[in-house]
Amino acid sequence: MFDLQEINKLRVFKSKAKRNDSFYTKSIYPGYNGFREAIIKFKGGEYREIDPKRSKFAAAIAKGLSQSGIREGSAVLYLGASHGYTASFISDIVGKQGYVFALDFAPSVVRDLVFVCEKRDNMAPLLEDANHPERYKDVVPLVDVVFQDVAQRDQLNLFLKNCGAYLKKDGFGLLALKARSVDVTRKPKEIFREVKNFFDNQQDFVVVDYRELDPFEKDHAFFVVKKK
Ligand SMILES: C[S@@+](CC[C@H](N)C(=O)[O-])C[C@H]1O[C@@H](n2cnc3c(N)ncnc32)[C@H](O)[C@@H]1O
Repeated sequence: MFDLQEINKLRVFKSKAKRNDSFYTKSIYPGYNGFREAIIKFKGGEYREIDPKRSKFAAAIAKGLSQSGIREGSAVLYLGASHGYTASFISDIVGKQGYVFALDFAPSVVRDLVFVCEKRDNMAPLLEDANHPERYKDVVPLVDVVFQDVAQRDQLNLFLKNCGAYLKKDGFGLLALKARSVDVTRKPKEIFREVKNFFDNQQDFVVVDYRELDPFEKDHAFFVVKKK
């Protein structure tokens, strides 16, 4: 018998009894598990399991994330949505009053993403390059949350550009940083520290949470920043 409890008001749940890394969102489209994720029923609702080894967002939660800024009704711009795995759980979290603009520049993955969005009315696929935020200004409004997971050398710049163009004041930016994509020759911790120092020494954002994702995602860190 499952007994779920919400973690840190994140709208993500875990079992009270099990001491493991199983996390769930309450499905807003019961009966549909397009990623073959495990489903459990609890108090009349259906809950989908999100895997910390497959999602940096879930890995950050497994590492104790205290806040994400993603709320029921939030509008989210998700950069690097890939096939839509993590984005589909964010879609559960924001609920039917919220919206997820799920962007990726690789046609091979956006093909799958389109199918996910067909099942979820609160998600739209965008085949775009996050390096050019001006190209999607007719589609994407100002949002409450910018979520980025692109594993590119210029991750930080790309994040700042998109937050500059789309993030509301007091909105949250979530950055999954892959150190090896920035520079394979340098120690990941050195790169994490550099990015943290950057945020600490500028005026536009304040870091509200930071997690290193080892052992779920090697050489990755997760930043949550709030726009001033
Ligand atoms: C690590 S995967 C994302 C996994 C996904 N966030 C999840 O948890 O389900 C990184 C994705 O970023 C995309 N990407 C990389 N650079 C990009 C860019 N400049 N614009 C849009 N997408 C980009 C890649 O095509 C790839 O699908």
